[in-house]
Amino acid sequence: MDSYSLIKTVHIISASILFGTGLGTAFFMLRAHLSGNREAMAVTMRNVVLADWIFTTPAVIIQPLTGLWLVFKLAIPLESAWFVSVVILYLLIGACWIPVVAIQIKIRRILAGGGGPEEYGTLMKAWIALGIPAFLMVLILFFLMVTKAGIGTSIGASLGRDQSVNSISNEMASSNARASKKWAVEFTGATRAHCRFYTAGCAFSASEN
Ligand code: HEM
Repeated sequence: MDSYSLIKTVHIISASILFGTGLGTAFFMLRAHLSGNREAMAVTMRNVVLADWIFTTPAVIIQPLTGLWLVFKLAIPLESAWFVSVVILYLLIGACWIPVVAIQIKIRRILAGGGGPEEYGTLMKAWIALGIPAFLMVLILFFLMVTKAGIGTSIGASLGRDQSVNSISNEMASSNARASKKWAVEFTGATRAHCRFYTAGCAFSASEN
């Protein structure tokens, strides 16, 4: 397996762990909460916090590192709407996830005997309010990863900056077949990746390492 395939495999496994652990722990936490059984809630909470440390935290770190490696290898323009959207979404997910972890730790303490039901109720509401948008944003990220939507559109273009990617996106915009744009990658060796944007009437090589 070449290094590109290896890193991409790690990236996808890490995405699965991130998404799967989030969904799985949320499901068990909600089920324990709805059971009303304090002991079941306490045991579940302890395991949810543990699962976050063992699975989610490494995945949260591995995801952008492998993602950025792929971005540089594919020579994806950092000014592209795709990249900017991915970074913003990832930061927003992090902004939801960090307080969620803190909330889970607090709930664990309450269930271990250190707090009242009012505080517990407020924390559960905050946990749901942060968890739902984070979950939806991860779904959008999956969509962006698979479709590469906006990869040929430059954020800089809308600011009137004259960058090479602007001419790329302008060329694409002038093409009637924008919707048929495809992103294709051809491998010619373990470390060489040729990246091309394809549109009807607009095909060019974006990079050649
Ligand atoms: C900073 C964050 C991220 C960056 C820079 C990034 C970058 C990339 C890049 C460049 C690819 C293209 C690989 C290729 O087509 O050969 C990719 C693929 C992929 N990424 Fe990410 N990624 C990030 C976060 C995520 C997250 C949070 C998820 C999901 C939880 C995710 C899931 C995927 C999946 C499933 C693919 C494979 C898509 C396909 O081959 O069609 N990525 N990522």
